[in-house]
Amino acid sequence: MTHASRAGVKVSSMADRKKMSVAEILAAARAQKAGGGESSPPAESEPASAADNAAETTAAASSEVAAAEAPAAPAAATPAVAKGGARPSVAEIMKLARQKAAAEAPAEAAPAKPAAKAAAPKPAAAKASGDKPAAPKMAAMPRDTASILAAARAGAKPGPVSKADAPASAKPQAKPAAKEKPAGRPVPPKPTRPTPTLKKAAAEDRRGFLSVAMGSFMAVGFSALSVTGGLFSLGLARFLFPNVLAEPPSRFKVGFKEAFPTGKVETKFVAQYGVWVVNSEFQGVEQIYALKTVCTHLGCTPNWLEAEQKFKCPCHGSGFYKDGVNFEGPAPRPLERYAINVSDDGQLEVDKSRTFQEELGQWADPASFVTA
Ligand code: FES
Repeated sequence: MTHASRAGVKVSSMADRKKMSVAEILAAARAQKAGGGESSPPAESEPASAADNAAETTAAASSEVAAAEAPAAPAAATPAVAKGGARPSVAEIMKLARQKAAAEAPAEAAPAKPAAKAAAPKPAAAKASGDKPAAPKMAAMPRDTASILAAARAGAKPGPVSKADAPASAKPQAKPAAKEKPAGRPVPPKPTRPTPTLKKAAAEDRRGFLSVAMGSFMAVGFSALSVTGGLFSLGLARFLFPNVLAEPPSRFKVGFKEAFPTGKVETKFVAQYGVWVVNSEFQGVEQIYALKTVCTHLGCTPNWLEAEQKFKCPCHGSGFYKDGVNFEGPAPRPLERYAINVSDDGQLEVDKSRTFQEELGQWADPASFVTA
């Protein structure tokens, strides 16, 4: 037996004898490889974790390497012995160990259970080696409650089952169920905050509306004030400068006597002077006189009715003869006369500043008529 084989056997025996960690086993293997001598035994005081698996895999790897390199060597001889000192590297040993473990996983699942139990409590050891647990080891892990419950629900296999034996549909059912809890909750929609841009735009719109409204109110107010001021100014002007009626002169000429034949009532001076010039007989004397066109009842202007030869008041129906004496209606007295005379030029001149009333006997005054 070579030195390497002896060392491997020694390591395996030590691993079997004591619980060693993978790091310790690897350190012993490196020491043996570097020195070619016997490696110092690992500290016995350190507790071994996953020692069984490591020892088994290391020994198996050593044997596999030996078998690959020296197939003709005896079964008890190691590869180092077969090759005469060419020892496999630790990486190769670990690789072969993993391959062997993967190949033997289905068959060794049941017996590997204790080893898996031993390796499970110390995941730090696996982390230290830098390798993830292989799939066969996962299959050999202790059966957990999820797999047992999944199998019980599926009814495929009563009792505890491993993860590998658990129905494939159970795994996806368990995980999504746990994940669907938050997804199943009705999530209220997140309220959207109004952006500052919208607030600014709304504020600007509000300010614009207020400005327009205030401007409109002020415009209407000023317009009303302007109209009121204009009307007030107009009223003040009318008060200060009232309409002045152009009063006709109180004395005016109406023409020569020949223009007023006997029995003639001239009405062309009614509108301008308010006078009828009449040539008629009164108390047996033919006279030309000027009658005032004001009804003695309430002051209306009567109309001369040529066909009826009378003055007729349209207001209340008072009637006057051609000489001005009242004969019907409410008029209490005859019409009045203005003064009339012959001017220097021979024309008849009417003077409205003097009036003559028949009931007072004033028509007998020569100033109240001109003989025709
Ligand atoms: Fe002429 Fe009354 S005013 S009748």
